[in-house]
Amino acid sequence: MFRACVGLVALPALAGMFPVGPVVADSSPVATGASVQRWYSGEHVQRGAVVYTQNCSACHGQNGEGTKNWRQRTADGKFPPPPIDGTAHAWHHPITILGSQIKFGAPGGQGSMPGFADKLSDEQIIDVIAWMQDKWPDEIYATWAELDLRSRSKN
Ligand code: HEC
Repeated sequence: MFRACVGLVALPALAGMFPVGPVVADSSPVATGASVQRWYSGEHVQRGAVVYTQNCSACHGQNGEGTKNWRQRTADGKFPPPPIDGTAHAWHHPITILGSQIKFGAPGGQGSMPGFADKLSDEQIIDVIAWMQDKWPDEIYATWAELDLRSRSKN
């Protein structure tokens, strides 16, 4: 519980940290059995919804449902936009990686995900991550939270 509270206060401090990679501070939410404390507030999600509709929904779908055949490469050898609503892989990534993917696009320019470094502030990226994570069921979120925490303690 203590850690969950720390997470609520400290996570927005991630803003500005995506380019430098690993987050050192232990500000991750922690799964506590049945109920999982989420790091974000309703305001994050509301602001994130606006960011999402304006920048992401054309590719990832109105509710983050992605493309039906997202596992199959298209003719150009790239993958179509995957779901980000908790049904695909997005929850395998710590928040710093999610932030980098959104800020800088597909790693090494290999995919079709564009970078938003010149369009969105780090605060807006944090907000849109909150919107996305708000779609994730508790089990998925809890698994992500543990993974996110582990990724921090390694550094
Ligand atoms: C032009 C289409 C397009 C737009 C616009 C777009 N994406 Fe993507 N996104 C993709 C594709 C395609 C991928 C899969 C990786 C790749 O091929 O680049 C992806 C991957 C991702 C991933 C990683 C998913 C995973 O399973 O690892 C996240 C998170 C994501 N996008 C979030 C966003 C957010 C948030 C926005 C808006 C700020 C956005 N995307 C805008 C096409 C897009």
